[in-house]
Amino acid sequence: PALDRFILALPKAELHLHIEGSLEPELMMALARRNRVDLPFRTVEEVRAAYQFSRLQDFLDIYYQGAAVLRTAEDFRDLGRAYFDRAAADSVRHAEIFFDPQTHTARGIPIGIVMEGLLAAVEEARVRHGITGGLILCFLRHLDEEEAFATFRAAEPWLDRLLGVGLDSSELGHPPAKFARVFAAAGAAGLKRVAHAGEEGPPAYVTEALDLLQVDRLDHGNRALESPELVARLARDAMTLTVCPLSNLKLCVVDAMDAHPIDRMLALGLRATINSDDPAYFGGYVADNYRAAAAGRGLDRAALGQLARNSFLGAFLPEADLVQHL
Ligand code: HPA
Ligand code: ZN
Repeated sequence: PALDRFILALPKAELHLHIEGSLEPELMMALARRNRVDLPFRTVEEVRAAYQFSRLQDFLDIYYQGAAVLRTAEDFRDLGRAYFDRAAADSVRHAEIFFDPQTHTARGIPIGIVMEGLLAAVEEARVRHGITGGLILCFLRHLDEEEAFATFRAAEPWLDRLLGVGLDSSELGHPPAKFARVFAAAGAAGLKRVAHAGEEGPPAYVTEALDLLQVDRLDHGNRALESPELVARLARDAMTLTVCPLSNLKLCVVDAMDAHPIDRMLALGLRATINSDDPAYFGGYVADNYRAAAAGRGLDRAALGQLARNSFLGAFLPEADLVQHL
């Protein structure tokens, strides 16, 4: 109804989107055919039926498997194009996109293939939709820091075309501290730093992301709410949290959408934003996430407007571009 139209039309920035997580089953099947890659699924329905998760690792296993169909720069461009076309329909004006080079280099795909395909999609989105975009290179935290360094060195020729670095994959048992040196190197190279923390991991991982990785933004951050001191610090520092409601529901970070803490975050003075994380796997793009959170928690236009405003405030936009969006 009216609130849905308001949500759809609301100009937004998307700050937490894994491009490999935007691979829809239809494109997965088409690329499998194009590249002669074997999948354990025969139909789109079989793929969707497999998307039942009770924790982060259940999802990651199937997400890395799906990414195996991506082989050429054209594949990565097509993946990015599909995301930006869908984001444009949700009134996304700016998107900062995660990608996982190690998922591809481990299969023998050179990082340059990934970079060139995704950079082409970003440029195309600017021309076709007027969406500004940038890429954030994520290190896989289940691998060791030496592998992260090797990835960072391999990305050297493209560093001036990256917004920043991030940290994703299996959180528990892989604290931010493990990546302190490679994040310091990224900071010294002038890159922004973000990290997933407090999705499944404890509040101490959020503190480590702040103190040891010097993050400019926090991805998820849900479990920070368990620590009043940490909440006070995040509020005081106006730290942006990239919250992902449908992801939280699908990965059982929350039991139900009516138990989601998004409005509590705003009430605590946190700069929370709404994002889609892995929309092809979690059942919705960014406007679907706003709608689900609004329905679950009874968010009004003022709260939804604040969340959208926060998304631009939390973006890595030059001041001159930021004012255009506020
Ligand atoms: N958490 C950790 N790793 C990920 C996620 C996530 O939500 N999505 C894709 N990789
Ligand atoms: Zn994520």
